[in-house]
Amino acid sequence: MSENLPMTTRAVQIDRHGGPEVLTVREIPRPALADGEVLIAVAASSLNPVDWKTRAWEVGPPPPATLGWDLAGRVVAGEVPAHRVGDEVIAMSAQIATGRGTWAELVALPAHLLASAPTSLPLEDAAALPLAGTTALQALRAAEPAPGERVLVTGAVGGVGALAVQLARHTGARVDALVSRPEHRSAAVELGAERVWHQPADLPSAQYHVVLDTAGVDASHALAHGGRYVSISDEPLPAVPGARKSYVQENTADLAYLATLVDAGELRLRIAERHPFTDIRAAHERFEARGLLGKVLITF
Ligand SMILES: NC(=O)c1ccc[n+]([C@@H]2O[C@H](COP(=O)([O-])OP(=O)(O)OC[C@H]3O[C@@H](n4cnc5c(N)ncnc54)[C@H](OP(=O)(O)O)[C@@H]3O)[C@@H](O)[C@H]2O)c1
Repeated sequence: MSENLPMTTRAVQIDRHGGPEVLTVREIPRPALADGEVLIAVAASSLNPVDWKTRAWEVGPPPPATLGWDLAGRVVAGEVPAHRVGDEVIAMSAQIATGRGTWAELVALPAHLLASAPTSLPLEDAAALPLAGTTALQALRAAEPAPGERVLVTGAVGGVGALAVQLARHTGARVDALVSRPEHRSAAVELGAERVWHQPADLPSAQYHVVLDTAGVDASHALAHGGRYVSISDEPLPAVPGARKSYVQENTADLAYLATLVDAGELRLRIAERHPFTDIRAAHERFEARGLLGKVLITF
């Protein structure tokens, strides 16, 4: 490994579960590289609900733990066939399962988690893509919307929902949206939604071939007979035949595909706020206050 690299790195860790006050920025040893791994200088990550849930709830590997799933950065060490030192990459690391958090200046990850970063936007901004994009793509794949079919996305301007609306449109489906607030309607239209609601009770009955629930609302009355209901939320599924949950899986081919869509102008990433990692507590507080239009980036 290069002798120019620092021996330590700063990371955002928790020692116990709790409110934003349990988040601590501390110096830890530079991660060692195993075979097939690369060291990445992180440009940015983003905040996802799983991050505050892992902080607040008794889930994930026992503390002390480095949090964070998303990563956009530059390879600084490691010899693997697919990536070289200097490459700009993105990755999603399933921190809750593997303990490999991305909220550090230097992160070691298996090369099979990396995809080349989109080239059409600043590297930092690409950190908005991995978890939310992979979740949206895999949930839609589970629902299999066909061209011309009608799709309802709930939470349509949220991290996952905003990408799901665009990806569903990309399949040729007709997409409608449920948002949490009337002032979010125009944002959903900009993403490609035709009709937008903000009250589940107002949704038309039995209209949709696919309902993709990212908001944890019961939109089952809007599902057409024989339609597919897929949820990514923690809430129990409604009593709909065949309703299923989709859980995001690390998948570099999906990441690479998402990056090509970004570069083709087919998938837009909206950034609501940027916080340096040293302000991680403020970033969590803002995120948990809700009402955002776009992702919260954590910059390194
Ligand atoms: N299963 C998986 O693999 C997986 C993967 C990723 C995420 N998730 C889960 O999926 C959920 C969404 O994730 P995310 O990253 O998209 O979160 P997010 O960025 O917070 O987006 C959630 C969106 O839903 C909206 N919303 C909340 N209540 C609503 C309601 N009653 N009607 C309409 N919209 C409503 C929110 O609006 P406000 O901000 O105004 O409340 C927000 O726009 C979270 O629970 C997350 O933990 C699961």
